Amino acid sequence: MDKINMDELYAKAREVADRAYAPYSKFRVGAALLADDGTVFTGCNVENRSYGLTICAERTALTKAVSEGRRSFKALAIATPDSDYPVGPCGACRQVLSEFMEPQAPVRFGGNTPERVDTTIGGLLPYDSLYELGKT
Ligand code: THU
Repeated sequence: MDKINMDELYAKAREVADRAYAPYSKFRVGAALLADDGTVFTGCNVENRSYGLTICAERTALTKAVSEGRRSFKALAIATPDSDYPVGPCGACRQVLSEFMEPQAPVRFGGNTPERVDTTIGGLLPYDSLYELGKT
């Protein structure tokens, strides 16, 4: 298996963060998801004036990918260029990502400093009691 280039994946997440539609929070987020076949799917957050209908960058990337026929992903990067520290995915996104990624899949996230957090899907969602349910 080819080694995963997390630097490259992160650069794609940072790039797509500039497409965020975030007039309310002014908080841009970009996500890049590496599919098992090597294709990268990107996504940004898309806010709405109702607030509650906001879609996170991670779920944008994921739904784009699934609707293009991919169901398995081996890595994720998230860029939040408007924060002074790395911001990880929200709880809802952790749950949704875990549907299509193995616990050992690497995840990198970072803000507007050189600091990066390198973890895994399992690190973001430990004690995933429903994991076996998804293996049917
Ligand atoms: N947001 C994401 O897109 N992903 C995350 O992981 C955290 C939060 C978005 C939602 C909203 O548009 C803005 O960031 C502030 O919460």
